[in-house]
Order: sequence, then structure tokens, then C-alpha cells
Amino acid sequence: MGQSLVDIQNLRYRISEGTRHREILGGIDLSVREGESVALLGRSGSGKSTLLNLISGIDKPQSGSISIDGHEISTLREPDLTLYRRKHIGFIYQLFHLVNTLSVAENIALPLELNGWSRKDTEQRVARLLKQVELADYGMRFPDQLSGGEQQRVAIARAIAHHPSLLLADEPTGNLDAQVGRDVMQMLNQLVRQEGLTIILVTHSQSVAKSAHRILTLEQGQLAERVGDFAW
Ligand SMILES: Nc1ncnc2c1ncn2[C@@H]1O[C@H](COP(=O)(O)OP(=O)(O)OP(=O)(O)O)[C@@H](O)[C@H]1O
Ligand SMILES: [Mg+2]
Repeated sequence: MGQSLVDIQNLRYRISEGTRHREILGGIDLSVREGESVALLGRSGSGKSTLLNLISGIDKPQSGSISIDGHEISTLREPDLTLYRRKHIGFIYQLFHLVNTLSVAENIALPLELNGWSRKDTEQRVARLLKQVELADYGMRFPDQLSGGEQQRVAIARAIAHHPSLLLADEPTGNLDAQVGRDVMQMLNQLVRQEGLTIILVTHSQSVAKSAHRILTLEQGQLAERVGDFAW
């Protein structure tokens, strides 16, 4: 595994509820190395999605630093933030978030077009990705003509298409049946390994978490490393 890709130091985030403040992240540190996969477990409302939103610059922390590949994210402003996200991050969501008016191939091509890839390179990359997610004949279909598992495989292809430095997945199997979820995770893990990707994966499933190199838990604003087996 390579050098440190994500470096988070003393990250604090609180939200206002009327006149009161509630601390979601109470000064967390996290370091993730290139090629590493990290699973993040925690109760509903513990701040897992918030942490991903901070890493991708969608939310702004009150204090602390978030450095990714040497870029300090917490101080970047639009439009630099948009460019950074577009180039360096891939997202996978629980509800797939495909564009329903675009074909499967067009969905996968989106991040490439946004990053200025040529038409030829885009077509080649999309064709390869369709094969890798075992949907080679599905390029012309539309998302609503696919099963949930197939839609998530398209979303995975789209998320990794532009060779992001960091993949953020928020409960990628949360909307899938158990068996379909296992198949999707197997495919995701294989692609992550093949492409040497770094991934932070939020999940409620212990078996999904176990496929990662490291398991972290978020509880009462603090991040802890899980070592060995544990009851859940
Ligand atoms: N924009 C917002 N305004 C106010 N409160 C928010 C906002 N976003 C999140 N919260 C609150 O912050 C807390 C953390 O939310 P977050 O979505 O990060 O939790 P989570 O761990 O991802 O939960 P889940 O497992 O249910 O997805 C929750 O209590 C939530 O209600
Ligand atoms: Mg969440």
C-alpha cells in the first residue's frame, strides 16, 4: 500500500438546531493510505454521511483540516471545489442516483465528458467498464429498464470511470437484497483491487465491513478502530 492519501486532523463539525448546537464530529483524526479500503460503521445519525460530505467538500467543518492527495479541501471554495470533486472523487450512493433520461453508456460517460476526455477515449473506457461490470450488452438501455443490482453496477462503473483518487460509497448495498448486495460488493471489491483504488465505505452490514482492510466506528462524535471480531 502506498503513502497517505487522506489526512484528516482534529475535524469538528456541529449543526445548529434553533439556538442550540449539536456536535456531530468532535475532533476526529483519520489517515487513509493509497490503495486502502476503510469501512465505516455507526448508528443511524452518528454522522457517517456527514463525514463523507466533509471529505468531498459538500459540507464545511467549523475547524480542523482535510487533506486529500495534498489538497486542503476544507479551505477550497467553489469553483475549485467542483473541479476537485469532479476530477478526484467517485461517489456511490444507496439509491444509485443514475440520470434516468440518459442511457447506461451515457451515464458512465458523464464524468469523462465533464473531465474533458476525447470522444474516442470515452467510448473505449465506457466499453471496457461495461464489460467489467458484466453489462456489456446494456449500454443502450435506460436505468429504469435495469434491476437494482444492475443499476448499482452502472453506478459503480460511473464512479470509477475517471480514475478518481478516492472512492466514497454511502451504504452501496443498503437498497439491495442480501444476495444481490453480496454480488455487488464482490464486484466492487474486485474493481477496487484491480484499479488500485482507495475507498471509504459506509455500511450498516458487518459482512460488508469485513471485506475492507480496516473497520472504523463512529460513535458520539469520535472515530475508533475496530480490531478483531466483535458483536454487533
Ligand atoms: N443539513 C442538516 N441540517 C441539520 N441536521 C442535519 C443535517 N444533516 C444531517 N443532520 C443531522 O446530523 C446527524 C448526522 O447525520 P448523518 O446523515 O451524517 O448520519 P448517518 O450516520 O449517515 O446516519 P444514517 O446511517 O441514518 O445514514 C443526524 O442527527 C442528522 O439529523
Ligand atoms: Mg447516512
